[in-house]
Amino acid sequence: MSTIDEIKSRIDIVDLVSETVKLRRSGKSYTGFCPFHHNTKTPAFAVFPDSGTWRCFGECNEGGDIFKFVMKKEGWDFSEALRYLADRAGVKLEKMTPEKKAAEEEFERLRALLEEAASYYHSLLRTPAGQAALNYLYKRGLTQETIETFGLGYAPDSYEATMSMLLGKGYAVEELKQAGMVNERDSGGVYDKFRNRITFPIRDAAGKMTGFGARILNPEDQPKFLNSPQTALFDKSHLMYGLDRARKTIRGNDQVVIVEGYLDVIVLHQAGYTNTVSPMGTALNEDQLRYLKKYTRRIVLALDADAAGEKATLRGLDLARNALDREEELVFDAHGLLRHEARLQADVRVTTMPPGMDPDEVVLQDAAEWQRILDRAKPIVVHVMETLAAHANIDDAKVKADIVAQVQPLIEDVPSAVERDAYRQQLARLLRLDERTLLGTQRVRESSRRRHTRVDGLPAERPSAQETHVEDRGLALETHCLELLLSKPENVYSLDRSLQAANLTRLSRNDFSSAAYQQICELLLQALAQDQLDTQEYVRQKLSEELQEALQQLLHANRFAEEKNEDKILEDLIRSVMNLRLIRVNEALSQLRFLQQEEKEDEEDESDQKDWMKKTLEFTLLRGKLDRALAQSVLTS
Ligand code: UTP
Ligand code: MN
Repeated sequence: MSTIDEIKSRIDIVDLVSETVKLRRSGKSYTGFCPFHHNTKTPAFAVFPDSGTWRCFGECNEGGDIFKFVMKKEGWDFSEALRYLADRAGVKLEKMTPEKKAAEEEFERLRALLEEAASYYHSLLRTPAGQAALNYLYKRGLTQETIETFGLGYAPDSYEATMSMLLGKGYAVEELKQAGMVNERDSGGVYDKFRNRITFPIRDAAGKMTGFGARILNPEDQPKFLNSPQTALFDKSHLMYGLDRARKTIRGNDQVVIVEGYLDVIVLHQAGYTNTVSPMGTALNEDQLRYLKKYTRRIVLALDADAAGEKATLRGLDLARNALDREEELVFDAHGLLRHEARLQADVRVTTMPPGMDPDEVVLQDAAEWQRILDRAKPIVVHVMETLAAHANIDDAKVKADIVAQVQPLIEDVPSAVERDAYRQQLARLLRLDERTLLGTQRVRESSRRRHTRVDGLPAERPSAQETHVEDRGLALETHCLELLLSKPENVYSLDRSLQAANLTRLSRNDFSSAAYQQICELLLQALAQDQLDTQEYVRQKLSEELQEALQQLLHANRFAEEKNEDKILEDLIRSVMNLRLIRVNEALSQLRFLQQEEKEDEEDESDQKDWMKKTLEFTLLRGKLDRALAQSVLTS
């Protein structure tokens, strides 16, 4: 029996549900009022003990097993529900190795240490030393209840008060270091990290302490916000502030709203907008979005008007970043976000604050205004085109052309053809252009690309079945593709578009087989996603030391120095990538044939056979697509 079945067999669904819903027996099942939607007239909720399932026949029209019930009720993800139910059922989830257990115990101790610090800071708000901090929080519109709920506090203006409190509780200096509560002196001693600041305890999604954010009280102090350093518990690239309190509503509303600041999160929660979170003063990254996607795929970014306006021009990103003392801001990077969106199949929208206002100010002035701001959220591409148009004189033909030039690459980056079409129409309307003009600029580009014959470089022909050095050919093609890409990184956008037109997936690291090439490809795509000015330089800087040589070789090969025709280079790239994929598909197909043969001989596992057949079919279809796409490009070239 699997662990999950074991847990199900031990927990009676009727018992479990009865803790929340008053159930009445009706024949073989039980009925009650659904806990997930407002219903008081007729009971729409049923529990079926035989199958161990439940269903709401009313508004929710949803159902499931005990795991689904707990997930929905608590706003947990599956693994959280599993942990809870396993515990309740007395089922051990995995055997703990002694090392794991020791590490977990140490983590527990550090969390307890941080809890001590949080309640110490909190208690100081009620002392004369913390009076100014408390007044500040009131001035920012926080109620006593909110201050309690979020456990806000005051770190005293002292180099050792917090430290001696913790040492007094029996913690060791080493543990204070590991928890990120102290800084080390050159001389070897330690002193309190957070001094004369408002403290924001930062908890993970399960509500466990991980560290602190701390804001200045004295406007002269620097930096404005100080976070715990990276520790075993505090990993700011993953954490989202407020998620522990927000995830239930995020799931309920099927929407998460991301704002920039801790205080924005708190004030929005206070006003009832409890699906709000913020990053830890870092740029929003894909890990965070992926994590949020466990709760919802609908993500709204609330940007302040400045960020939205300046950043939408897709320029000056680095300047803006360096001007601030924090590491990065909630950068609006349209290309990057579009890529995350496509990869995660999320729905990312952007909304902007009234000029000069932060979300906390908006909601304190008029709580209902926040809902209107959320309702105004737009898809990324629409947001960019509208912001660009709003900040420019679109009666000027050159300005129009400039906006088209900035928005079109974004549109081309959108995977869905229907969406791309809709965006083109919107752009035309916005700029008061004839939509055919927009399509026109594109068609001209495409056809001029096709008219040119391809470069007679390395790749080209379809590999024949008798091809002996398949592996060499594959590798040579990988090298060729990367050289082409590094020499003209922007070609990725057109490449991806051609691939999409042929119903093929975009270029990714998976097109390459060696770790070196994979990493180089990944970094190149990253540089583009972040609108880095110098792609090669970015790749060079980020690439591991051991792989630098491989990169140098690719850059120095310089096979295309004499090829000045840009269309040819692009055509070559597209064909090379398709040919490379064809080689890999053929390899996979011959492996599958081999596996099927083997299996037939010992005629054992039927289901494996079926899997092989399914895979074979998949690859055969893919080969068909590649063949057609390549044939077409020969015809048109
Ligand atoms: P803001 O400067 O916009 O602050 O930084 P805020 O949250 O609106 O704060 P108030 O309203 O002035 O009190 C937004 C976020 O950027 C991060 C913090 O997470 C902050 O909440 N940040 C800012 C840093 O990490 N370090 C800094 O020095 C500044
Ligand atoms: Mn603010």
